[in-house]
Amino acid sequence: MSIDQEIEKAAQILAKASNAVASCGAGISAESGIPTFRDPGGVWERVDPSEAATSEGLIATLKRDPQKLLPFFMELLETFERAEPNPAHYALKELEHMGILKTVVTQNIDNLHLEAGNTDVIEVHGSGFRMRCLSCEWSKNYSRRELISRIKQKMSDADSFTFSDIVELMPKCEGCGAVTRPDVVMFGEQVKDIPRSFEAARKCDVMLAIGTSGVVYPAAYLPFQAKDAGARVIVVNPNENAFQSVSDVYVPLKAGEAMERIVKEVKEIVLDKK
Ligand code: OAD
Repeated sequence: MSIDQEIEKAAQILAKASNAVASCGAGISAESGIPTFRDPGGVWERVDPSEAATSEGLIATLKRDPQKLLPFFMELLETFERAEPNPAHYALKELEHMGILKTVVTQNIDNLHLEAGNTDVIEVHGSGFRMRCLSCEWSKNYSRRELISRIKQKMSDADSFTFSDIVELMPKCEGCGAVTRPDVVMFGEQVKDIPRSFEAARKCDVMLAIGTSGVVYPAAYLPFQAKDAGARVIVVNPNENAFQSVSDVYVPLKAGEAMERIVKEVKEIVLDKK
């Protein structure tokens, strides 16, 4: 089938749906300027996950050589500060508005689905802009730009950092005053809200798998769960990925273009029926 035909088929399926779920990965935010992990030039080509993606590895790296990851952290802060939701995020919001999409399950920590306007967003790998206390139950959602500018300001106050300086960059717990960390899931840590995500996948009529390689579990199970339970699966990804075998429709385009075109056709189908 041609890409145009895949898009039309995706739109026909979505136009009949009332309980769709989108399972999203880093690729949906690529057009917002946020790098993916495993594509050429991605995050894991630039930093070693054993040094930056487990809490033990990160603490050991920061203690051994506190300056090592600072340029990467600064670049990340600037990338997240500049990012805005892109047409793919807004397309999901429109699908929710039309009563077609119920839930977004995202592996992304960038807050962009909520900023685009989706209301039921399950952040299975946490949020980069929610801080949680390492000592008590306190946590707080910050505005993305407010938190970043606070941390950047503190970073610009010094030329070099010790391990404790880096810990001090984070806001203090407003409950007990202890140190906090971003509430993100690092390798080896408990993934969040998986029972609710799996329930959404099992109950949905359509599963959209957008911009994810499908290699990180348990999130990667969701399209398979949905397919097993009888849902149609629409995959949007410019590159081959782990969901090819369960896809009813495969749109090999970037998320922004694909989702914009799909939603435009959904609207035409829905309007024609009225
Ligand atoms: P990956 O980096 O593994 O995969 C990104 C996917 O996005 C690839 O399949 C690309 O082909 C696709 N892609 C790239 N540009 C795109 C675009 N413009 N539109 C649509 N798709 C595009 O990222 P994830 O699958 O999200 O976890 O990886 C999951 C997890 O790996 C992350 O949450 C993170 C990482 O390790 C943790 O850190 C716990």
